[in-house]
Amino acid sequence: MKKIKTQVGIIGAGPAGLTLAHWLKRNGISSVILELRSREYVEGRVRAGLLEQNTVDIMNDLGLADRLKKEGIEHDGVNLSFDSERVHIPFAELTGGRKITIYGQQEVVKDMTDAWLDADEELYFEAGASEIVDFDTKNPKIHFKHAGEDGILECDFVAACDGFHGVGRKTMPKDNYRSYDITYPFSWLGILANVAPSTDELIYAYHENGFALHSLRSETVSRLYVQVPNGESPDDWSDDRIWSELSTRLATPGFELKAGPIFDKSITPMRSHMIDNLSSGRLFLAGDAAHIVPPTGGKGLNLAIADVKHLVDGLVSFYKHNSTDDIDNYTQMALRRIWRAQDFSNFMTTLFHKQEEHGSYNYKLQKAKFDYLKMSKASRTTIAENYVGLPFETYEY
Ligand code: FAD
Ligand code: PHB
Repeated sequence: MKKIKTQVGIIGAGPAGLTLAHWLKRNGISSVILELRSREYVEGRVRAGLLEQNTVDIMNDLGLADRLKKEGIEHDGVNLSFDSERVHIPFAELTGGRKITIYGQQEVVKDMTDAWLDADEELYFEAGASEIVDFDTKNPKIHFKHAGEDGILECDFVAACDGFHGVGRKTMPKDNYRSYDITYPFSWLGILANVAPSTDELIYAYHENGFALHSLRSETVSRLYVQVPNGESPDDWSDDRIWSELSTRLATPGFELKAGPIFDKSITPMRSHMIDNLSSGRLFLAGDAAHIVPPTGGKGLNLAIADVKHLVDGLVSFYKHNSTDDIDNYTQMALRRIWRAQDFSNFMTTLFHKQEEHGSYNYKLQKAKFDYLKMSKASRTTIAENYVGLPFETYEY
């Protein structure tokens, strides 16, 4: 039986777990990370790409942004299109200079993993946590299995950063929280293609055939998504069919979509999930372990990093100032931003996805919301400030 001891036991080496580990280290607090999957798997998992200003600032402050600064692509605005008509939202102008950066989640994970292991810190891959016990005492423990051997990680606090399917949320006492679930009747088919992006800034488009999103990863790699019915398989979609749908849905006068070889295809169901309590005793949840939003607003990873900020505040005041005030406040602080993100992600999802027939009442409401963007700077500012992410101080009321 392998026994390890640390101050904070972290489950999950995704963006939340890794950021937490680095931030605690910066404050002289030790942690050990357990990760269910192999390093290869985690670093290859294709997911998010949109980093808010806050996320980039945090990575910078933690000294983890060398490659991000070189390879990340800053965007000052976004294009929103409805029935082939486009509105541009200039973020920097509407939010006092705030921006987003496009940089793949797996690159963030690679940079943070390299820095952690280069510093000789402990991270066990293929070490799935099976049980969290004694979290109602001062000595919680995480049971895990690594390389065929059973192990126990003893710690002062457990941070479950183990995503939607992890053990953290399942361990929370059921009478401790209320949960909310929305399943949208559509999914995203996402692709990566070896072709230069056809746009400088992202395009979100409503079309009567369904939603489409043009994002990117580099000067030579494009990332695009199309709305598909639930239950669809990537095999139902040939490359030709994907490019043809994308060019129909993204069409606006003068715009031409460049097609190229597709090297990754995956389906993501659209759903919202959350629980309204992120802790029980000395067990704390952060990131997708506690909440999922549909990716239409690009919020999930950013929300995970924001949770970590509040958790670090709490743990630092516990260890440095012997105070439990901030850690006791963790759920309340985190929930303010989580509900904001739930609302914004739902707003973007319902505005840009095809739900009912053209001409229906719902369609008319979608169109009225889009038209309002053309008329009102206040409406454009609402999108801009939510999209780039509100500063942390905004939530300190
Ligand atoms: P995860 O990244 O899921 O990490 C959890 C880790 O825990 C995993 O590595 C998992 O293997 C591990 N784990 C699970 N169970 C155990 C266990 N029992 N023991 C040990 N380890 C365990 N977000 C954005 O902000 N911007 C975007 O542009 C965006 N686009 C997206 C596009 C798509 C197609 C998808 C699917 C998601 C997108 N997201 C986006 C959401 C974002 O990817 C997630 O919100 C983010 O991964 C959350 O990070 P996390 O660290 O909380 O969880
Ligand atoms: C991405 O680049 O993968 C991306 C961008 C914006 C989103 C979702 C995903 O809203």
